[in-house]
Amino acid sequence: MSLSLDKNDIKQKVSKASTKADLEAIRLEFLGKKGFLTQEMKLLSSLSIEEKKAKGQELNQVKIFIENEIAMKKIIIDKSEIDQKLKKEIIDVSLPSRDYKSGKIHPISHSIEKIINIFAAMGFSVVDGPDVETDFNNFSALNIPMHHPAREMQDTFYIESENKEDLVLRTHTSPVQVRVMLKAKPPIRIIVPGRTYRSDSDATHTPMFHQVEGLFIDTSTTMAHLKGCLVDFIKEFFEINNLEYRFRPSYFPFTEPSAEMDVAYSKINNVINVGKGKDWLEILGCGMVNPRVLENCGIDSTKYQGFAFGMGIERLSMLKYGITDMRNFFETDFRWLEHYGFNALDLNSFSGI
Ligand code: DAH
Repeated sequence: MSLSLDKNDIKQKVSKASTKADLEAIRLEFLGKKGFLTQEMKLLSSLSIEEKKAKGQELNQVKIFIENEIAMKKIIIDKSEIDQKLKKEIIDVSLPSRDYKSGKIHPISHSIEKIINIFAAMGFSVVDGPDVETDFNNFSALNIPMHHPAREMQDTFYIESENKEDLVLRTHTSPVQVRVMLKAKPPIRIIVPGRTYRSDSDATHTPMFHQVEGLFIDTSTTMAHLKGCLVDFIKEFFEINNLEYRFRPSYFPFTEPSAEMDVAYSKINNVINVGKGKDWLEILGCGMVNPRVLENCGIDSTKYQGFAFGMGIERLSMLKYGITDMRNFFETDFRWLEHYGFNALDLNSFSGI
């Protein structure tokens, strides 16, 4: 565009400038030493006084106009440069959000919750007890006296106490039966999930593991109730209606008669299939509470009788979720947990079996 002193042309020219360098170029073009307006000013000397006055005034106005236009545009450019700089230099101080998938529920916790749900629906309430137990609650009250061979199968960790009381890390959840019976009056219907300890360690034993104890005491409770309760439980836990199981006679000092419950399974190419198969896995011990235990806990055994059971939560979880090495539960390997863990919102529900 050729230069002119028309105000509209100048306005348009200035408006097209987008940087301060553009503006400076325009200024020089008009107002610099060799600028268009400066040249025009120089020409004034050749004019008559009258013409000089009129033209001089006109040129001065244009000069002021150009200077104003450039000053105004400069403010706009300055502001947009600051805005751009702020945009570029912004620091995001917020952390990316954590979505709920980033944490997993451990399969043992998930199983405990499922077990509680099933027994709660049958009217059992949940009780807990301490991991550090008295020798009396863990053994003697349960009809396992000091030198009874049954103690050998439950070797544990012994704890020194200040008042010379014999303390152990409980070897099973059964001592909570004693705690409850010493306090509560029948009818009693409780389950006790919790940690238990033994000095054992291999692929199917860890020094710390989990059990759920059950205790049902009333006036006319029988072995038939015990079987019905456990069979209903096991079908609901594995969500298999025609699951094969068996009760095998066994021995526990605190029950008479005693039994163990096995679940059928098969293992082909290291894949466990529950409910059917040639192999059996023991999942719990049970029986009718020995009258001696009732008496040890101040319950009249001529009036009351009941059943009890204790199940291994790791065993149940290994069968249900196809986990072959029990030690994996407690190695805190995040890859394992990512695979076998549950999302926080995966709530346990009833299969309706
Ligand atoms: N406490 C036993 C154990 O850990 C399991 C057990 C068996 C619990 C029979 C019971 C029961 O309540 O009646 O080996």
